[in-house]
Amino acid sequence: TKRVFSAFKPTGHLTLGNLLGAIMPAVRLQDEADCVYAVADLHALTVKHDPERLRARTLEAATLLLACGLDRSLVYIQSRVPAHTELAYLLESTAYFGEMRRMIQFKEKSANQEEVRLSLLTYPALMAADILLHRADIVPVGDDQRQHVELTRDLALRFNRLYGDTFTVPEAVHPQLAARVMDLTTPDSKMGKSDGSAAGTIYLLDEPADIRRKVMRAVTDSETEVRYDPAEKPGVSNLLTLLAVCSGQQVESLAYQTYGALKRETAEAVVEALRPVQERHAELSADPAELARLLAAGAATAVERTAGLMDSARRAIGVL
Ligand code: TYM
Repeated sequence: TKRVFSAFKPTGHLTLGNLLGAIMPAVRLQDEADCVYAVADLHALTVKHDPERLRARTLEAATLLLACGLDRSLVYIQSRVPAHTELAYLLESTAYFGEMRRMIQFKEKSANQEEVRLSLLTYPALMAADILLHRADIVPVGDDQRQHVELTRDLALRFNRLYGDTFTVPEAVHPQLAARVMDLTTPDSKMGKSDGSAAGTIYLLDEPADIRRKVMRAVTDSETEVRYDPAEKPGVSNLLTLLAVCSGQQVESLAYQTYGALKRETAEAVVEALRPVQERHAELSADPAELARLLAAGAATAVERTAGLMDSARRAIGVL
């Protein structure tokens, strides 16, 4: 069986983009593969953060992953498994400053900052460590993580060539339709936890009334034709994507006369898709002790499962 790994950074509340771009594909992979999913809290330290809020959002993200249906996978919090940072250092010693500096996300996120944390630059080495630690074959991610997985492959191949076969070279998989869910108010930019606009971002724990309001106010265009055409009609195409994925239909089968009708239908589909997630989230949150036990057990299993790989990597690179 194939191994699958992916992770989610708790820099903010999880969004509909996270759900459609990565969580739903991850849920489906559980039927055919050995799946591991983590909340990448260490990745949230790469930009200015508040410790109390980070703790709360890490727990919320873990709860939401389980609530979305990843409860048949190994789920844990990255920082509880020290091998992530240990392997990240070995990979920092395999990667080049030049290739890190060229990462699109580093360039974007460091552009307007006075104080760029060093961890923002080295972040892709930690992400590569996450993936390689689990010998993952498949990494379900949205489009924005494509370059980081590509780098992970490069680092795995380089390490294997220099020090002997140690890592599995992973492959990213992206959903066909929702690899890049767009912001509802600025449909030419991606819906994001921290970089998007609050009005254009649907969070998994948004109230139905908020979801309806955000969808009804989504920016479309000055035409009237409902048609899937991401280049020419990004707003309408984004709504069609949300509707199709949330209701389990094909985009081609969706025909609406007016933007108003499309928006009403989309809002209901999103509300219905999130309802069971929110209900399960409430149930899980009601028993924090059980949740803590689950996450501790997950981390213990991850520590156990990654010890062998960590040993091979240490031995290969030449540390005693
Ligand atoms: P993060 O936390 O930004 O996003 C988590 C996952 O959600 C996807 N995603 C989207 N997909 C479609 N449309 C969107 N608008 C959208 N926004 C986010 C992301 O592509 C991602 O799959 N570095 C990663 C976290 C990470 C990771 C890993 C991922 C850490 N280690 C190892 C895979 C493997 C990140 O910041 O994702």
